[in-house]
Amino acid sequence: MNTFEFNKIAAAVLAGVLIIMVINEVATLAVHPTYPEETAYAIDTGDVASSEVASNDVVAGPSIGELLASADPAKGEAVFKKCAACHTVEQGGPNKIGPNLYGVLNSPKGAHDGFSYSDALVEKGGDWGYNDLDLFLAKPRDFIKGTKMSFAGIKKDEDRADLIAYLRTLGKSDVPLPPAE
Ligand code: HEC
Repeated sequence: MNTFEFNKIAAAVLAGVLIIMVINEVATLAVHPTYPEETAYAIDTGDVASSEVASNDVVAGPSIGELLASADPAKGEAVFKKCAACHTVEQGGPNKIGPNLYGVLNSPKGAHDGFSYSDALVEKGGDWGYNDLDLFLAKPRDFIKGTKMSFAGIKKDEDRADLIAYLRTLGKSDVPLPPAE
């Protein structure tokens, strides 16, 4: 390649670069991009504004009181099918793999006649109030380590609330609902 050829190529390359620079400059001047301050498509992440939640907070769901306020015992009766393999609910019904559950709400734990409870459950002590029942039914083996109720738990808050509302209709239905706050 002689010098003349080389110069021609170099000039062509240089011209190309200049053209690109000019186009770029003109394009920026012509378009003036402006960016909206709000996201065009807001993503609904629930009603808790991020500013209300400190970074280390666990976002707590509605309390059992709130859930029970709108719980449906009839739906709870359907949920109870998961329990019926091991529990009866009629007054004076027999114990099966688990104790009869008539009137269990607000009764002392591990107190049903003729059922042989695990030590873990008896040692837990106290009554089956709404909160304890809710925690137990969510994950029995977390709430009472060593319980012999082999049941994984009911994950959905609403299902547990319906179920507890159903248990409430059996026996002492005068047990007042917890405050819905
Ligand atoms: C595989 C059998 C089985 C299933 C299914 C089961 N349970 Fe139990 N449940 C037991 C056994 C066994 C115990 C006794 C636990 C112990 O002594 O540690 C028990 C204990 C309980 C107690 C404590 C009763 C008391 O007198 O202290 C409650 C309340 C209870 N179950 C509710 C339920 C509900 C509601 C369901 C359905 C969501 C359910 N269980 C599903 C076997 C079962």
